[in-house]
Amino acid sequence: MTAPDIEPSDCTSAFAKRFGRVPWVIVRAPGRVNLIGDHTDYCGGWVLPMAIDRGTFVAAAPATKPVSTFVSTAFDSMVEVDLTVRHPTPLGDLADPLRGVADRFAHAGIALPNLDILVMSSVPVGAGLSSSAALLVALATLFETVTNQCLAQLEKAHLCREVEHRFLGTPCGIMDMLVSIVGRRAHAVLIDCESEQWWPIPIPRELGILVVHTGGSRELAASGYARRLDETRTAALDLHVQRWRDVDEAMLANAPIDPLHRRRARHVVRENTRVLAAADALRRGDLFTLGQLMFESHASLRDDFEVSCDELDVLVDTAASLHGTGVYGARMTGGGFGGCAIVACEPSRLELIACALRNGFRERSDRTPQVFHVTASDGSGVITG
Ligand code: GLA
Repeated sequence: MTAPDIEPSDCTSAFAKRFGRVPWVIVRAPGRVNLIGDHTDYCGGWVLPMAIDRGTFVAAAPATKPVSTFVSTAFDSMVEVDLTVRHPTPLGDLADPLRGVADRFAHAGIALPNLDILVMSSVPVGAGLSSSAALLVALATLFETVTNQCLAQLEKAHLCREVEHRFLGTPCGIMDMLVSIVGRRAHAVLIDCESEQWWPIPIPRELGILVVHTGGSRELAASGYARRLDETRTAALDLHVQRWRDVDEAMLANAPIDPLHRRRARHVVRENTRVLAAADALRRGDLFTLGQLMFESHASLRDDFEVSCDELDVLVDTAASLHGTGVYGARMTGGGFGGCAIVACEPSRLELIACALRNGFRERSDRTPQVFHVTASDGSGVITG
C-alpha cells in the first residue's frame, strides 16, 4: 500500500529510451497534502501542509536540436519549445508550464539554454495533491541547476505561483509551491501566508497519514475555486477589514452582512484558529486533539465553505466510524470539489484502516477508492547532476 516514489534510475531509463543517452541532471519536487488550513492561504491565513513522498522528476541534458524537446511519460506527445526566446502567453498545450517558468526566468534576467527534457511523476493528476505545483517547482529547480543560479526559496515560490496564475489559470495562494520547496522529511510546515514565514514542525512517530482518492472528477474545481476567492474578498469588503486577522467571532456575529458571506468568513476565521491549535497539538504529540480539529475542519469546509462533495463526505464519515480503532481524524485536503481525503491514524493500524476504508466506501458507492500511505518528504532538490 505504501506509495513508492519514482527511483532516479526509472527516470534515467525513460530519458535514455526517449533521447538515446543518459540525462545530465535529474531534479525532483514533491506533491503535498495539507493536514489542515484550506482556503486560508489566499486570505493571508495559516496553513499546515507537508511535502509528500510522491514527486515529479525532471531529467534533462543539453539539446541536440536548436530547440528544446519536452516530453512527459504521462502523455504520448512531444512539444518543441525555444527556451532562448520569451514566451509571454500560454499556448494551451502540455508545455505551458515549461514556457511559463522559462518566461519568468527570462523576466528575472536569467538566460536559459535549450534542453532535452523528460518529466515523470508519481503525483496523481487531478487528485488535489498539487501535481501542478510539483511540476512548476521541478522545472524551476532544473533551470536553477543548469544556469548555476539559486533563487531564494520565497522568490522561487512567487515565481511558480505567477506561472500558475498567468499560464495555468488558477488564482491559487502560496501554499502548494512553498511547501514543495521548503518541505522537510518527517515534518509538516506551518506557514503564515500573511508574513510568508514558515516553521517546520516534527511529525510524531505515532502519526500515520493515509490519502484516499475516489478517482471522482474535479470538474468544478477551477470555477468553484475562483468563486470562493471572490466571495472571501467580498466578505472582507463587507466587514471593512484589510486583514482577516482583524476579524473575530464577535465581529462576525454582529456584522450586518449577507448570510452566505458570513458563512464563508466564519470558515476562514475558525480555520485559522484551528490551524494554530493543530500545530500546537502536533508539537505536543496530542494526536486526539489534532484529529478532532481535522474533523471540525472538514465540517466547516462542507457546511460553511461548501467545497466538499458527497464522495469526500462519505470517506470522512467512514473514517469517523473507525474513530477509536486507530483513526484520529480525517478531512478533505486541498481545493476540494473532489480530490482526496486524508486520514490521520496509528501507524501500526494503517493496513487494517485502509482496508476498512475501502470496504466502507464501497458499501455506499459504486467505486473502490485508492488508498495510499504518505510520509513527509524534503522539498525540491537535485537528485543527480
Ligand atoms: C489549492 C490552491 C492552494 C490553496 C488550496 C486550498 O490547492 O492551489 O493555494 O488555496 O487549494 O487550501
